[in-house]
Formats: sequence, C-alpha cells, structure tokens
Amino acid sequence: MKTIGIMGAMNEEITPLLEIFGNFDRIELGGNTFYKVEYSEKILIIAYSKIGKVHAAITATTMILHFGVECIIFSGVAGGISSDLKVGDLLLATRLVQHDVDITAFGHAKGFIPEGQLFYDSDVGLCSLACDVASEMGLSIKKGIVASGDQFIASKEVKDSIAHEFKAIAVEMEGAAVACVCYNFKVPFCIFRSISDSADGEASVSFDKFLESSAKTSAQFVSKLVDRI
Ligand code: ADE
Repeated sequence: MKTIGIMGAMNEEITPLLEIFGNFDRIELGGNTFYKVEYSEKILIIAYSKIGKVHAAITATTMILHFGVECIIFSGVAGGISSDLKVGDLLLATRLVQHDVDITAFGHAKGFIPEGQLFYDSDVGLCSLACDVASEMGLSIKKGIVASGDQFIASKEVKDSIAHEFKAIAVEMEGAAVACVCYNFKVPFCIFRSISDSADGEASVSFDKFLESSAKTSAQFVSKLVDRI
C-alpha cells in the first residue's frame, strides 16, 4: 500500500481533510499529532506542523523517517503577491525559495545557503497530475514561484520587494522548508495553497476572514488529487 504524507501548518488547514477522509488513528510524536487513515488502498499520514519553517521541517522529516511516506503534499493558505491572484484562488507552487535567508554579506544571493539550493522544484509528475485533476474538475489552478519565510507579510513594500527579488507570486511560511527536507531525502512533494489575503496592509483581517474557506478549497482539491495517486 502506498503511504502518502499530507501536511498543513494550522489545524484549520487539515480539519477539512480529516472530515473528508474519515476514521483515523492518532499518533503523538515530536510535538505533533499525526492522523493515520486507511483510504482507498492507501495509507495517509496527515498532520499540521504549527506555523513556520522550523515546525514544518520537523513534521516533514518525521513523516519521511518515521512513517516512511513516499511523497508529501502540503495543503493550506497563502498571501497573494501577483495581482492575478484573488482570495479563494488555488495555487500550485512550481518552485519554492526561502525569502528570509540573508547571507548576502558574504556575497551569496538572497535566499541561498551554500550546499543548498536557491529554488527547490516541486515534483514534475505530481504537478502534472495535479493539473490534469484541476482541468477535469473545471478548476483553474495558478502556477508559479512561492516564497516562504518566518514572517506574516502584511505590507505592500515588503511584498513588492519579495516579488521583485524572487519573481514570487505568493508568500507563505512553510513550503520552502518542506521542499528543502524533501529534496534532501529525495522524496517527491508538491505544495498547494489557496489565497487567504493579498499580503498587504489588510492582510491580517483578510486572513482571519478567509482562512477557513480558503483552507477548505485547498483541502478539497488535495483530496481529489490523492484519489489519483
Ligand atoms: N499565509 C497566508 N497569508 C500569508 C501572508 N500574508 N504572509 C505569510 N504567510 C501567509
């Protein structure tokens, strides 16, 4: 049986998945609760990591080393940078970058750590399957670079500078950490987000208002993708 890891950062991001997939066992490990579900000849390991790159890296690593997941799918919400992205739009991260890494004092590009990667690419096979599933559902899914950092972006200036620096179309706080873990353990991954805000001065109000509905949009799509893996 295939074992698939599905992560969110917040409880609100995985609750809709648990509602869709039904009966589960709970396993407490490393400060997380992992929900194990047997679903249509697959084992799903579902967890929310808590916010931020360190928490996301712990959860992704545990999923790989302890639960032996063969791929990781992230489902959650993001702040839109591109003017194309509106609240509720679904987004597939083609590549991820850590926008808050800065060792430029030593001549390195912003976001780059020696022996690491500037951009981490999502698995091509999972992305193309996701695009097929979206088109079969009549859903439009936007694709592009997503920038992750341990900051909730709520300012036009910061958002514009991330857009300019990395050509990112959205920001969030975990994707690049999951990507970095998966790259190092050679585990395929893909990151889906639905837009909750526009990373501007109104972001916190919009986030609170749309977290639940946008998280549900992403989770519903991910459940359809899981049916096809
Ligand atoms: N996740 C959702 N909206 C966000 C924002 N504006 N900044 C960082 N992470 C987010």
